[in-house]
Amino acid sequence: MRISVIGAGYVGLVQTAIMANIGHDVMCVDSDPEKIKKLKNGECPIYEPELQDMIEDAKAQIFYGNTVEQAANWGEIVFVCVGTPEKEDGSPDLQYIDNVAKEIGESMREHIIVVNKSTVPPGTAHRVKEIIQKYQKFPTTFDVVSNPEFLREGCAIHDAMNGDRIVIGTDNWKTAEKLIEAYQELQTQVFLTDTISAEMIKYASNAFLATKISFINAIAQICEQVGADVKEVARGMGLDHRIGDKFLGAGIGWGGSCFGKDTSALIHIADQIGYDFKMLKATKEINEQMPKEFIQKIQTNLNGVNDKIIGVLGVAFKPDTDDMRDARSIPIIQKLVKEGAIVKVYDPVAKHNAEKILTNVQWTNTIEELAENTDAILIITEWKEFKDIKWREIKQKMRNPRIFDGRNMFEEEEMKRIGYEYYSIGRPNKEGIHNQ
Ligand code: UGA
Repeated sequence: MRISVIGAGYVGLVQTAIMANIGHDVMCVDSDPEKIKKLKNGECPIYEPELQDMIEDAKAQIFYGNTVEQAANWGEIVFVCVGTPEKEDGSPDLQYIDNVAKEIGESMREHIIVVNKSTVPPGTAHRVKEIIQKYQKFPTTFDVVSNPEFLREGCAIHDAMNGDRIVIGTDNWKTAEKLIEAYQELQTQVFLTDTISAEMIKYASNAFLATKISFINAIAQICEQVGADVKEVARGMGLDHRIGDKFLGAGIGWGGSCFGKDTSALIHIADQIGYDFKMLKATKEINEQMPKEFIQKIQTNLNGVNDKIIGVLGVAFKPDTDDMRDARSIPIIQKLVKEGAIVKVYDPVAKHNAEKILTNVQWTNTIEELAENTDAILIITEWKEFKDIKWREIKQKMRNPRIFDGRNMFEEEEMKRIGYEYYSIGRPNKEGIHNQ
């Protein structure tokens, strides 16, 4: 099948790689000439495990271009994967979607299926249809489908190949059959519904996941005060199938390009129809509170941070990505610097993106270098390699062996045995621990 993908961001590139590996001939277009140049040279413009190899493996079946016109006249199915960033009032900015729809209308010459993979408010498929119709130069039939994406950064290929479901929103059975055929190789269950419900499923899913994390973070606050261990609580809760054990990892909160934007959008959508989505507002408030609580914990236990040397392990919004969007490291580091701390930073891959945002910090290339003379080490992103840190050796380099674990990667007993003061989230310090 001939497939087009408009937009070479996370969603578009993964879609390109998956479709080409299935065996389709894919035309991937992006208006950014630099991105396309890199891709043509065999270079993946984003860091995402397995993506570069997938693109390389299927390179004979991937073609690149710079215009929507090329995409509209290549594929029987045209996936739209452009950004819908947050506007100041919280609503999603649909200008890129609208532009693509206009250009598709102007350039399409044969029947195509336009598939919206971007996260868009309910009703956008109808809006896209109207725009295409308005600008159509060569009258021909077409269809607009909603097919939201559920992949996570850092494990995007795995998620796309092993998804729980493929949601297809359309009221046209023939169109649905074509889409099912395009995805058939993945052997993932397909959920067929109408376009508006499909669009809503995406927002509801992200809002629910963000709420699940904020819920466990709220529980963590209580655990610390009453003497419970939030990791144990989450484990015990997760055994109930109705709850499940995923997304119950307490920590300094969620970040990234989606949860913040999509929760704001849903609150805005609700506001517009007169519904005050108080629960989702609380989800966001709790998330904003988590870095503040963490900073407070550091300040209290260090007796203020002025002139203290603090090492930060991990700055990306989550492991296995170089994405810094809405990363929790940003408010935490900025506040510590403002309060007079000397902050040293290490991240295995995000440095090139983080340098532009996190100024006034010292970048280090190794964990040993980071630890030198520090009064505390903070764990902000739970990179797998941090699990293998030789903490005994690191301790020798530090001025004061203290760890503030914002992702609950380690156990207090283990760290205490080595000689660290150890603080985490939702797990109270055992009495007398630091005096032994
Ligand atoms: C999220 C959703 O999980 C995807 O299904 C969705 O497709 C994507 O948004 C999107 O809309 O594009 P993503 O933001 O890439 O994916 O990453 P997640 O793995 O969901 O992590 C989001 C944030 O939650 C990270 O900051 C992570 O550290 C945090 N998190 C996650 C926790 O604090 N605790 C957890 O238990 C899980």
